[in-house]
Amino acid sequence: MVGWYDPRVLAHSAYKLVIANIFGRHSDTRLIEALASQPQNEFDYSAAQGDFWLDYAADIGDGWNSTYAVADAIARPELEGTEAGRVLVFGGDEVYPYPTRGEYDVRTETPYRMAFAGRAHPDVFAIPGNHDWYDSLVAFSRTFCRPERGFAGCATRQTRSYFALKLPANWWLLAIDLQLGADLDEPQVQYFQKVASRMDDAARLIFCVPEPRWILEDAYPSHSSYEELSSTRFLEEKVFKRKARVFLTGDLHFYKRHENSEGIQKITSGGGGAFLHPTHAPATRNLSNGFVQRAAYPDEQTSRRLSWRNFLFPAINPKSGWLYAFLYAMSAWLASASLEAADLIDAQTALAATLNAAIRDPLNGMWLVGVIGGFIFFTDTHVRSWRILGGACHALLHLAAAFAVGWFALWVTVKVFDLHYGSVAQLLLSGLVTFVVGGPVGAFILGVYLFVSIRIFGRHSNEAFSSLRIQDFKQWLRLRIDAAGVLTIHAIAIDRVPRRWRAAQRNGKPTIEAHDARATAPRLIDRVEIRP
Ligand SMILES: [Fe+2]
Repeated sequence: MVGWYDPRVLAHSAYKLVIANIFGRHSDTRLIEALASQPQNEFDYSAAQGDFWLDYAADIGDGWNSTYAVADAIARPELEGTEAGRVLVFGGDEVYPYPTRGEYDVRTETPYRMAFAGRAHPDVFAIPGNHDWYDSLVAFSRTFCRPERGFAGCATRQTRSYFALKLPANWWLLAIDLQLGADLDEPQVQYFQKVASRMDDAARLIFCVPEPRWILEDAYPSHSSYEELSSTRFLEEKVFKRKARVFLTGDLHFYKRHENSEGIQKITSGGGGAFLHPTHAPATRNLSNGFVQRAAYPDEQTSRRLSWRNFLFPAINPKSGWLYAFLYAMSAWLASASLEAADLIDAQTALAATLNAAIRDPLNGMWLVGVIGGFIFFTDTHVRSWRILGGACHALLHLAAAFAVGWFALWVTVKVFDLHYGSVAQLLLSGLVTFVVGGPVGAFILGVYLFVSIRIFGRHSNEAFSSLRIQDFKQWLRLRIDAAGVLTIHAIAIDRVPRRWRAAQRNGKPTIEAHDARATAPRLIDRVEIRP
């Protein structure tokens, strides 16, 4: 699993995110790509005989155990009374932490190639999620938009980052690319207009979108880009001139199904491989747009229980300690520059002298302002006053801990090692002690902060669960359209993915199979029928 608190991953992700946000939103490669590529029509599967099956997985391409467990279950010809899809749709975030040729190859394509070895291969389609957009879609289009190349031995047909599938019984699956929360681009609107012109009045729509705006706009009401003045509403009202019956998305790494009084289904299914997100926070059982939660996986009690693991933050994310080691040692160093032996008679005098130094020494003061500002920036709320209050409390907790660690380092060097205060040996050793102790202490405080945030305030649902790196509780969707035109959506989950694997042969092809007695078999967790 990706170590999101590894300073290198953190720094590189932040860099990619900033670049993508600054340039990605302005230089829209969808436009360039669409204009340069072959014209794309809808892809027609409507003539398929008997039951038509389609698999939908999102947020794939993380650790091997989770990604391959889902891929292998998808590729099995029969499972829990369902059949493998003729088509496999990836709903976004096909790779983590950021898209490159190598990461797509290792984290995404290789598991699926191994899973399909010696088995039937579906046609593969994909829309990009935010992680696919961090390189402005270069690696994504190479992987999914070149039909002559294929994906993991499967045929790919799309040449753009969005597509339409014409399914049996007049069902249409429309997969939409919304870039990084941007609006629809003109070629995409024209594409869907063309598709709409080929639909008759009885056509029924399934929308695939990159994020569950119906959840996000409730969780962050003041965030303007989640407003329901959304691109999907524009497509429903202006382009297709009818409402979609089903919405499918990933982005949040769990399963939730919301339904309204008209029977419209909004399904979040992001359990294809990435770390688990919490289902208990933020609270989204009853959405303000009239949708009510009908199913959630894992259940809220399990999700709440898992959040306790944040107390093990330093052990789960050992590399995060480097950041705090640096932060604590730097703070102690800057403070100690203005302190004399007389200031350090006892902890109370030392604290007063440290505060005094922070105010009088401009460099020290600016450092502290920077640290507090950094924590305020990190705080997950869109209400400014809460953000400042929460961030400042979090920062002061760390600065207090840095003082305590610095004081401990002084005590150890002077009292235990009997070194003379201010000697080179004493200063160097106390710096080292602050660095070594500060790492785990700072990481532990972050874990406590994340636990309190998610349990009491329902915030930091991303950070408080990416920190846990949970590879279990994986799931995906299996859609069936029967001869009567009834669409049945099955959600299938794996509670515990295998940790151990071994080489094997399947129909004469080399592959890898699970070898772990504690792993659990895929099971049906939810099923909903949508009648024509
Ligand atoms: Fe994701």
